Amino acid sequence: MSLDVASIRADFPILSREVRGMPLVYLDSGATSQKPSVVLDAERHFYETSNAAVHRGAHALAEEATDAYESARSIIAGFIGASPNEIVFTKNATEAINLVAYAFSNASAKYRHGHDVDSRFVLGPGDNIVVTEMEHHANLIPWQELCAKTGAELKWFGITQEGRLDLETDPIDHNTKLVAVVHQSNILGTINPIQELMRRAHENGALGLVDMCQSVPHMPIDIHATGADFAMWSGHKMLGPTGIGILWGKHELLNSMPPFLTGGSMIEMVTMDHTTYAAAPARFEAGVPMVAQAVGLAAAVQYLETIGMENVERHEQALTEYLLQSLRDLPGVNIIGPDSTLDRGSAVSFTVDGIHPHDVGHIMDSQGVAVRVGHHCAWPVCRRFDIPATTRISPYLYNDFADIDAAVNSIVKAQEFFGVVPEVAG
Ligand code: ALA
Repeated sequence: MSLDVASIRADFPILSREVRGMPLVYLDSGATSQKPSVVLDAERHFYETSNAAVHRGAHALAEEATDAYESARSIIAGFIGASPNEIVFTKNATEAINLVAYAFSNASAKYRHGHDVDSRFVLGPGDNIVVTEMEHHANLIPWQELCAKTGAELKWFGITQEGRLDLETDPIDHNTKLVAVVHQSNILGTINPIQELMRRAHENGALGLVDMCQSVPHMPIDIHATGADFAMWSGHKMLGPTGIGILWGKHELLNSMPPFLTGGSMIEMVTMDHTTYAAAPARFEAGVPMVAQAVGLAAAVQYLETIGMENVERHEQALTEYLLQSLRDLPGVNIIGPDSTLDRGSAVSFTVDGIHPHDVGHIMDSQGVAVRVGHHCAWPVCRRFDIPATTRISPYLYNDFADIDAAVNSIVKAQEFFGVVPEVAG
């Protein structure tokens, strides 16, 4: 089914505003998505009717709030084919990755002090962690830090000139304890062969973690079919509120991990010198959690389910094909990343000869077109391609072909403004 973009757009109040005297063309959904009224209404309704701290009070509001929070967990779990007890609410995806990194770090420190911990989370010299050169900083720096603390080594898959993972130079070996990889690159748009990477991890006795920030919002995901042990994504990139991220983990693994943040509601029993911890997911949700955000995210999930993730994916593929073709037709424009829709998502980065990517973004903005510029928190990718930055167009379900045309016209405006309009050959 093709999407009725006009009716979808009517659900998003912000999309009818103007910027700089022009209609807003929002093409920065890779950074954050806009929110439909049902999400805004769900949060407001929660605060107006049932607001209370969850899992604590004995009063009616506390009960209603707890029901709303746990029902949100079930709805979000169902979206990826998971069980509710495999879903941990975090502040964002970055915190979810750090939670896993700190589980390794804490287990390794406890092991050194003679505590009984699960050896799958114990790291030391001789062990290694494998990432890729196309990771977002959020799935790179936590592992750099973990290696610095434990003496383990960080290794990575490189990137081919086309912007794909170089699977030939595989650094995974029997000393690998974790393979942590991005599903869809936020800068290149590349969709990585996750099942194959998880298979290689498990074959070598390692655990597998997948950063799904740019995939869960854009395509159907059957989490168990990916082969991952851990995955994470953020709410705000999938029509939900900011301030909430999801960590998915196999329940048996979550229950084997030491906690990250400690405090209220994550305990089983506490004395003055000792604490035992609750089972997951409560173990990882210390303090009063983000209840209204969970309720808002559940509304976003239901909105996406009504549209159908297969339809969202198909729509974005059509937009991406059109965008790639339009950019290819523009002299002086270079696509950074795969230039076909095969195994690639809708985030498309490019450079323009003779203009800094930030300046391209500014001229696009002057035409009402919102895009992201910079290294996109994936600086090693820019180093790999020897470029300072890129300009990135990232459409979503509320964009149509006219938005792509507006973006392409604004790039031509940038070339005219900077006097770098290339001669067309022939
Ligand atoms: N990680 C987000 C992006 O790619 C913010 O823009």
